[in-house]
Amino acid sequence: MGLRPLLSILSSGEYFSGVLLGEKLGVSRTAIWKMMAKIEELGVDVECVKGKGYRVKGGLDLIEKDIVNRLCCRDQVAFCDVLLDVESTSSYLMEKMARNALADNVFGFCLSERQTKGRGRRGRQWVSPFGQNIYLSASYFFPGDVSGLAGLSLSIGIAIAELLMDVGVSGVQLKWPNDLIIGGKKLGGILVELSGEMTQGCMVSIGIGLNVGMRASEIDTIDQPWASLIEEGVSIRRSQLAAKLIEDIVAAVTQFNERGFAEFFPLWQQYDYLKGKQLAVVGADISGIGAGINESGEMLIQSNGQIISVNAGEVSVRVATNSD
Ligand code: BTN
Repeated sequence: MGLRPLLSILSSGEYFSGVLLGEKLGVSRTAIWKMMAKIEELGVDVECVKGKGYRVKGGLDLIEKDIVNRLCCRDQVAFCDVLLDVESTSSYLMEKMARNALADNVFGFCLSERQTKGRGRRGRQWVSPFGQNIYLSASYFFPGDVSGLAGLSLSIGIAIAELLMDVGVSGVQLKWPNDLIIGGKKLGGILVELSGEMTQGCMVSIGIGLNVGMRASEIDTIDQPWASLIEEGVSIRRSQLAAKLIEDIVAAVTQFNERGFAEFFPLWQQYDYLKGKQLAVVGADISGIGAGINESGEMLIQSNGQIISVNAGEVSVRVATNSD
């Protein structure tokens, strides 16, 4: 038996004796004990109190496959795999797509409760503890030339920022090219990767990490200022957020494939975190003031009276500190 039925029972946050759990699931107490050990290996903090039984203090907000599938659009979504544990949802989808290609205009999705090798941009790790955040990847076949994908990740960022505004999260900003920011801290990130024969189209994977329920008191392994929705006072069921994300990604990619970045471009201005800030381009001897983006999605920097454009594939930009 998989761990999901047991996790679902424990998600209430109540105590359950081993006997009761065994009865509910039709397995022995020893089997329950072994399953508890596996649940702990996932990083779930299971309390075991003599005379009371097991509980997960505070309960769990699990991603319910049924809720996600019921709430999200159907016809363009071939599948949405909801996993408990995976190295990386993006790697998982890339491997799955390499075995079984998707038809045009159809998307495959993967969500996981935890990632053990979550990947961020520039080879960084994406910290992905169990049951707290959204780790979501989308994959689809893009039939055109890869140059037609410039601006895709910015468009996805805009779609997510708008979604968050819709569900009541105010003050979300976008740090070019791929960071979701709130209160000056990183709330999420987007990783677009391509695979396959670039000459005849390619498979696109869009990976989204969004901090939802992660508590600063429990995480000390992230080397930059970060935020989560819960720390911002926003409480939202992850299943609902995941379903909305799936819908909005399908809509944004469809719009992008049909009409490119043009319709997203004016929306960037209202979320632009870097505009007017003193910036330094990492790996290049460029510094200046953030001056928005151009219609191709390149970052513009005003430097020594000139406007310089920088490309997301080549450089990354950081807000300069006093010591720069
Ligand atoms: C960034 O560095 O800002 C991008 C982070 C992207 C993380 C997501 S989580 C889901 C998907 N799977 C991964 O391994 N990475 C992306």
